[in-house]
Amino acid sequence: MIPKELALLKELGKPITVLTAWDSLSSAIVEAAGADVVLVGDSLAMFVHGHTSTLPVTLEQMLLHAQAVGRGFVNPAEKQPLVVCDLPFLSFQCGEDRAVSAAGTLLKHSCTSAVKIEGAEPEVLKVIERLIRMGIPVMGHLGLTPQSVNNLGYRKQAEDPISQKKIMRQGIQLEEAGCFAIVLEHVPETLALQLKSKLRVPVIGIGAGENCDGQVRVTADLLGLTKKQPPFSKPLIKGREIFVGALKNWVEQQRT
Ligand code: KIV
Ligand code: NA
Repeated sequence: MIPKELALLKELGKPITVLTAWDSLSSAIVEAAGADVVLVGDSLAMFVHGHTSTLPVTLEQMLLHAQAVGRGFVNPAEKQPLVVCDLPFLSFQCGEDRAVSAAGTLLKHSCTSAVKIEGAEPEVLKVIERLIRMGIPVMGHLGLTPQSVNNLGYRKQAEDPISQKKIMRQGIQLEEAGCFAIVLEHVPETLALQLKSKLRVPVIGIGAGENCDGQVRVTADLLGLTKKQPPFSKPLIKGREIFVGALKNWVEQQRT
């Protein structure tokens, strides 16, 4: 599947599933689960590297993780999930040339087929247009954009009509710029429904209600492995408890 074919799933009314992966173990699990897209999300800054935000993670680290993700797949290439990698903080904010170089590096040296970029400020739209012209598909990301945590906090976004209008406008601008899909994070459900109805490209929600063209989740959150799950991403299993319990048993068995 190439990125723009995700729009076909939207047309057919088929929900799009996106899960994050950060190494070859997690990508093998996500592939086996049958997700359409694997996102090498910069949230790995927190749950792999232990940072308190996504800001510290570097392009070199994202590349290393994307390469590991690619090595985990077992299916033949045409059956593997589409791999999208986040462009980390400062890899696209300093101008178009640097962004092309950063994104190109990910495509050149890993299984990445597309990049995700947060925001839709005029400078960001220019970067997105340039990347797409250069053959690098782009997924947009609106609402709570964690690289702007120092402006936004981790609060729900677009709770007032003015900021809802702004996100609608930015969604349209991202579609016009050529994004193949847009992640919409932590906004009111009604806004997600409006944006989904307005756009031809899929709106992929997290903390944006059920009325999206697809959903994205941090795999470690769903598996209950992270220290603190966001309120909109309930764990499916208590992974940490299960793992600790099993290992504790093993440790104790060795001592008896
Ligand atoms: O980094 C990430 O995991 C993400 C998803 C939450 C969309 O950007
Ligand atoms: Na991210």
